[in-house]
Amino acid sequence: MARNELIEKTLTDAMNYARTFLHTGKVATYIPELAKGYPDKLGACVITTDGEIYSAGDWHQEFTIQSISKTLTLIMALQTAGYDRVFSKVGVEPTGDAFNSLVRLETKNTHPLNPMINAGAIATADCCMNSKDPFGDFLALTRKLCRRNTIHLDEAVFQSEKKAGMRNRSMAYLMQGDNILEHDAEDVVDLYFWMCSLSVNVEDLANYALILANNGVDPRTGETLLEDWIVRIVKTLMVTCGMYDASGEFAMKVGIPAKSGVGGGIMGTVERKMGLAAFNPALDPKGNSVGAYRVLEYLSHYLGLHYFSGSSYTVS
Ligand code: DON
Repeated sequence: MARNELIEKTLTDAMNYARTFLHTGKVATYIPELAKGYPDKLGACVITTDGEIYSAGDWHQEFTIQSISKTLTLIMALQTAGYDRVFSKVGVEPTGDAFNSLVRLETKNTHPLNPMINAGAIATADCCMNSKDPFGDFLALTRKLCRRNTIHLDEAVFQSEKKAGMRNRSMAYLMQGDNILEHDAEDVVDLYFWMCSLSVNVEDLANYALILANNGVDPRTGETLLEDWIVRIVKTLMVTCGMYDASGEFAMKVGIPAKSGVGGGIMGTVERKMGLAAFNPALDPKGNSVGAYRVLEYLSHYLGLHYFSGSSYTVS
């Protein structure tokens, strides 16, 4: 299959455009180990449904998956505990609050509003604990969807999260008290921190995003890796809640189902066309990567990827 020159050129231009914004962001410091990230690292990867891979910049650089793991946790929870059980514990509505906010657990209702915020992901991690080997199964799922068998834990970030994770512990204890969690709060946050601390690169995430774009089937092998009802739920929540309290703005300006993490990654999925991911550890005040956001914004604009753009762009 021929390489698409338009994608190649647009990706190069997107990187140059994004670089001009990096100085406006700051690396996350609330998890001390993340403060070691270099704010000028920038990488991106696009994988199209015809199997072509377009990589740019620091595409090989590893970083922790952080909240992008919330999509995988939701998948594993749905596979392990089923739809009814999962959505009896967590809702599907955007919050408009910061990702680590506790406020709705007290004022709105005791259930977290969606699985893409910390409280919601802790509730879905609790569902994953019904598996015999939650850590091993989560790692296997991540490796399978990212297509790389060497994905591993970043032990230093994991330990750092454990030390600094008081807000997450508070949420877990509140939810254990309200019988939303079925397992001990400490055990559940341990799993949650562990899930956030897997080390990935943008090619891994673009591979995973490609499977989502192709409704659970790997277009390169024809193998079904995820059931389509699960993929539909995950992509819907990426649209409405994937970019924290900037999800509305991102939907309007970029229009790609996406999930970001404070490690600096953003993963996006373009229906039947491509999986993409970008990375830059400099974050904006809402916790989204400045550089990765700009890469996706540029690609969306110049390749016509917005879900309402009526794009003229086609793969090969
Ligand atoms: O719990 C935390 O704060 C991090 N492990 C994940 C934060 C993140 O990426 C943003 N979350 N929605």
